[in-house]
Amino acid sequence: MSQGEEQSAHLVFGGVDVVELAERYGTPLYITDESIIRANFRKYKTAFKAVENDIYFAVKANGNLAILRILASEGAGADVFSGGELHLVKLAGIPLEKILFNGNSKSEEELRTAVESQVRVSVDSLDELETLSAVAGEMGKEAEIAIRVNPDVSPQVNPKIATGLRESKFGIPYYEILSTYEEAAKLPNIAIKGIHCHIGSQILDVSVYREATEKMMNLVEGLHGRGIELEFVDLGGGLGISYQKEKERAPTPKDLAGAILPVFEAKLNSLGITPKLILEPGRSLVGPASILVSKVNAVKLSPYRACGDMGGAHDAGARAEPVTGQSPTASRNFVAIDAGFNLLIRPVMYDAYHEVVVANKLNEPASELYTVVGPICESGDIIARDRMLPEVKRGDLVAILDVGAYGFSMGSQYNGRPRCAEVLVCDGSVDLIRSEESVEDLIRNQVIPERLKL
Ligand SMILES: Cc1ncc(COP(=O)(O)O)c(C=O)c1O
Repeated sequence: MSQGEEQSAHLVFGGVDVVELAERYGTPLYITDESIIRANFRKYKTAFKAVENDIYFAVKANGNLAILRILASEGAGADVFSGGELHLVKLAGIPLEKILFNGNSKSEEELRTAVESQVRVSVDSLDELETLSAVAGEMGKEAEIAIRVNPDVSPQVNPKIATGLRESKFGIPYYEILSTYEEAAKLPNIAIKGIHCHIGSQILDVSVYREATEKMMNLVEGLHGRGIELEFVDLGGGLGISYQKEKERAPTPKDLAGAILPVFEAKLNSLGITPKLILEPGRSLVGPASILVSKVNAVKLSPYRACGDMGGAHDAGARAEPVTGQSPTASRNFVAIDAGFNLLIRPVMYDAYHEVVVANKLNEPASELYTVVGPICESGDIIARDRMLPEVKRGDLVAILDVGAYGFSMGSQYNGRPRCAEVLVCDGSVDLIRSEESVEDLIRNQVIPERLKL
């Protein structure tokens, strides 16, 4: 939302009236602004221009093909975590030499596909290294690899998204890395190309990147001393974004470069080597680029409500006393919308905060405290807790902000709810980039055995 756009009574996103979009495409609806993605990608390229670099988009954050095409057209590579993600990025035209196949549990089938596609593999364990060597041998090919380092650094984020802690399931402990490379160098059909780590996600304090870079560059030096030269050093993604605009200042790619580059460049200069720097951002490229628009199906007011200006059976000014006959459990004002954790699981999964606005009442003053909940049959299906909003009525539109990363891509059909449509907006233009699913999609691959048929 630009400054000018905030003047409108309707939320305007990417130059388009969100209320009109909801009328045209229905709700729930994911809306992505192309220009934000392009601008975010270019910030990375500018910030790291001092060194040879590639920016690999972490496809897990958002696997929509149109969005992958936007990033491909900017020159992005891709971090993929499954055969499915590899399929997506190939379709999107991301060059094979700019793809890294990551993951702590790859099937032999996936390893075979990676080798067949001539895509580099980030090896997560010695076991996988041996399997990959055998798979490549059977195919009469060479597998190009990096090894995923567990650097044992703590980025102070939700434990579910801290991936470089000593106890994390990812990677090989950094003190075993040099010997693992020596093993790899001896294995047939393995070509060592790089080194890789990824320390976590939604990182707001970039100093931890300096610590990780120091550890990684010491390993690069150790390998150099053993005659193993690397073509790339991949320091992963993880840069956070500002979900709570008033409380959090998100670091920029420039801040990230300030933490990484002095250490990276100093080591390159002292060793006289020139590996490429690779980064794997997901959230910071696409997170702020999407909103999820959802319609209010019902408003349920608490009998404990303090103010008496919204109608209904309650005493004005009575904050703690329930109104006679009302359940004391109904202690909140609930706004029930048509999108829940089936379409945005982050609040439930990570206690994540997303700002919400009433898209058709942008200029109305926030007057009531509401908890915005989804339609899923679980008490935990809460999208936004205790938010001051303008008076909300059935039929209003709630827009949930900053949902472009780990939003749709973590969606499901839980509770028999087909996934919603997605549109792309850009300077006033609108394109459908994913049709809404139907109930047919719920049963698409299901089979009723003959003996159970009606
Ligand atoms: C290996 C790897 N690289 C990159 C990313 C992207 O992280 P983010 O979206 O926080 O930038 C992830 C996310 O989990 C990851 O696992």
